[in-house]
Amino acid sequence: MSPGSDEPGPQGKGTEGNRTVDHFRYVNGVLHCEAMPVPDIAHRFGTPAFVYSARTFTERYDELAAAFAELDPIICYSVKSCQNLHICRLLHERGASFDVVSGGELSRVLEVGADPSRVVFAGAGKTDAEIRQGIEAGIGWFNVESQQELENLTRSAQDLGRPVRAALRVNPDVDPETHAYTTTGKQETKFGVDLDRARDVFARSGRNNWVTLSALHLHIGSPVDTVRPYVEAIRKTLEVIRQLRADGFEITALDIGGGFGVDYETGQAPSLADYARAIVPLLRGAGLTVIVEPGRTISANAAILLGRVLYTKQSGARQYAIVDAAMTELIRPALYGASHFVWPVAVGEDHVPSARKCDLKLPGTVQIDVVGPVCETGDFLARGRWLPPVTRGDLLAIFSAGAYAFVMSSQYNSRPRAPEVLVEGDRARLIRRRETYDDLVEAERTATHQ
Ligand SMILES: Cc1ncc(COP(=O)(O)O)c(C=O)c1O
Repeated sequence: MSPGSDEPGPQGKGTEGNRTVDHFRYVNGVLHCEAMPVPDIAHRFGTPAFVYSARTFTERYDELAAAFAELDPIICYSVKSCQNLHICRLLHERGASFDVVSGGELSRVLEVGADPSRVVFAGAGKTDAEIRQGIEAGIGWFNVESQQELENLTRSAQDLGRPVRAALRVNPDVDPETHAYTTTGKQETKFGVDLDRARDVFARSGRNNWVTLSALHLHIGSPVDTVRPYVEAIRKTLEVIRQLRADGFEITALDIGGGFGVDYETGQAPSLADYARAIVPLLRGAGLTVIVEPGRTISANAAILLGRVLYTKQSGARQYAIVDAAMTELIRPALYGASHFVWPVAVGEDHVPSARKCDLKLPGTVQIDVVGPVCETGDFLARGRWLPPVTRGDLLAIFSAGAYAFVMSSQYNSRPRAPEVLVEGDRARLIRRRETYDDLVEAERTATHQ
């Protein structure tokens, strides 16, 4: 099979059933990103590095747009999942709008030319400065999460003489069956307003000259690997919309949030068409502009984290590969116990993975922990995996590293952040350079002059 082709092949292929998952695939035992051999990328940009496939981003975006086309939704890519300006620009050019949660994210999307009137500004704790920034930018919807925030938004809009539009984020008390730290739609979490208090908030503050409160917003968690919680949450919210309309409020939009799952392992998540099949009938004919806020489902499989084995060793019964990538680049395993498929970049034909399964056990593999150099036992990328034997200098790919990876990276242990490389076909370009030792101390050096 040629690199970049869509044909399913026997390797850790990019195609699952009839849906394209990504464009990382083995060709003659060498991992390619689109048409670029990954070892060439390592040679040119060094390791550790994030390697993104442009085509995976755009195809996944298109797949989502096609799945929900009947509703003609506003697709607000969730910037927090992967925020690089060049990625935001790529998706903006594809037609995406944006979901932002801070003044920093807002300034990013304005820089790539986003139409602010189609941007949603979420977040449970917007500062006064961020609210002002959003009003001055002409944000489409402020997704407000409390009575106090709504009152604050009203004051700010009045002070600036700029009327705004808002959605009330409701908490539907639905279990998304995901990690507790990323569960956001259950009552015991800090997000939104209880569904049964929504009418009260509208009654108290829903009629004023400065904030048009004409929408509801939900986001139940991430990743949500089944469709059921969406159906439950949307049904409950539609009932509240019915009541609000009966109370005389004009409700024109519903933002159903993000959280759609993705295949960290082959076959893990429903397809985007599966989500749409369950959700679209609920919203058909509801007289609502529908907003969706996908992040991970677009970005997760659009990148690998590329690391090089520094050392291997045996300690007690365990074998270790110590690589130059660490929790500083990918904190998800340590933070959420997340599993990422890890595999050598170059393998013999008999070790080309038939699927991305963390429990894959091919003949001739050895059980190994893949760990980073950071001084924490929690600094691991994968534990107890059966990998082809690896040795010092080998490259490893940590798959599905496009979402909540680079954005959560840190400089802990004074490690400069890794570069981000974007591949388009047979071209690779740097979209964020590797940080330097000067970058590590720049804000400290300049602070002494103030
Ligand atoms: C309000 C809101 N919308 C959208 C998202 C994006 O979620 P995901 O990346 O899982 O699609 C999040 C993630 O935390 C969120 O908090």
